[in-house]
Amino acid sequence: MPPRRLGSNWRPGRLNLRWLGYTDRINLGGGGFMIGEMKVFSGTSHQALAGGIAAHIGMPLGKVKFTRFSNENIKVKIDENVREADVFVIQTSCPPVSDNIMEMLILIDALKYASAARITAVLPYYPYARSDKKDEARISITARLMADLLKMAGADRVLTMTLHAPQILGFFHIPADQIFATPIQAQHFRRTDISNSVVVATDAGAAKFAGHFAKRLGLPLALIDKRRSDDSEKAQSVALIGDVQGMDAIIYDDEIATGGSIFEAAKMLRQFGVRKVSVGVTHAVFSGAAIERLNEADLDALVVTDTIPIPEAKAAVLKNLKVLSTAAMFGDAILRIHGGRSISEMMD
Ligand code: R5P
Repeated sequence: MPPRRLGSNWRPGRLNLRWLGYTDRINLGGGGFMIGEMKVFSGTSHQALAGGIAAHIGMPLGKVKFTRFSNENIKVKIDENVREADVFVIQTSCPPVSDNIMEMLILIDALKYASAARITAVLPYYPYARSDKKDEARISITARLMADLLKMAGADRVLTMTLHAPQILGFFHIPADQIFATPIQAQHFRRTDISNSVVVATDAGAAKFAGHFAKRLGLPLALIDKRRSDDSEKAQSVALIGDVQGMDAIIYDDEIATGGSIFEAAKMLRQFGVRKVSVGVTHAVFSGAAIERLNEADLDALVVTDTIPIPEAKAAVLKNLKVLSTAAMFGDAILRIHGGRSISEMMD
């Protein structure tokens, strides 16, 4: 059946195309296309975020049952029809990391064999993102392995947020979209007094990314020269490039893992005469001694997003913590992918 133009009263997710007998891509006009009915499923890693995304889209999460057997095997049963559907699977990377990866792959596989038309893996925090290059002999590049596994399981597309390095997108043999939390973080900081502020990148790798954030806020950029001598995860800030004396700093980075980078950066900035130290990061990994280090860093604001669930015990003791929701951004990106519309426009 040739693609047919739908009326202007079309709204995403409200029309069951199977009733009309469509399985092809449908031309929606205005550059938009849509395939089958949209469905959103979630693994068990971050139900709160998945629920928020589904609520923003205006539909319930798909019905699925997860069973864990005594031998630690995982069984997934899709509890509704997904034939010819445009399915989105939400699963973030957080402890237990390996179990969550396995659960996601099994869920995607089950959806594929239940005849979903297209499956998009929605990964708010991409698993093994820091394992992205061969900078030593004979080491694993697990971010690339993750891309292979997702495709092998049956993912047709990937949607993720703020990758540790942009080259990860090149690991995929399927379309992969990256969105950034920059717009919501900028909106947050704009509501505070940033008249005498400077954005600070924690290392050369973060400079481009932090530069975009600084530009969005109309602020100058400074850069820390950070070194790691080995895999002990202990970072050392060795130099500062840029003018920060008497200013308020907003340290901007993709993630906080052990908190070492932020602790070192805050210490150095104060030595260089910074008044207030705020932090804006996307992924609150908060592993190892992060909580102690972040509290010791005595930050004036610690602004993170909810791409990773923060255990109540950690959130309760962290000083000046603010968690921004990414649910609306992911919801909008899913609607755009479903409707065949541009994702990069969201970052304008
Ligand atoms: C490193 O390259 C990243 O951009 C982050 O700075 C890093 O992951 C933070 O790790 P940690 O909190 O353990 O210093």
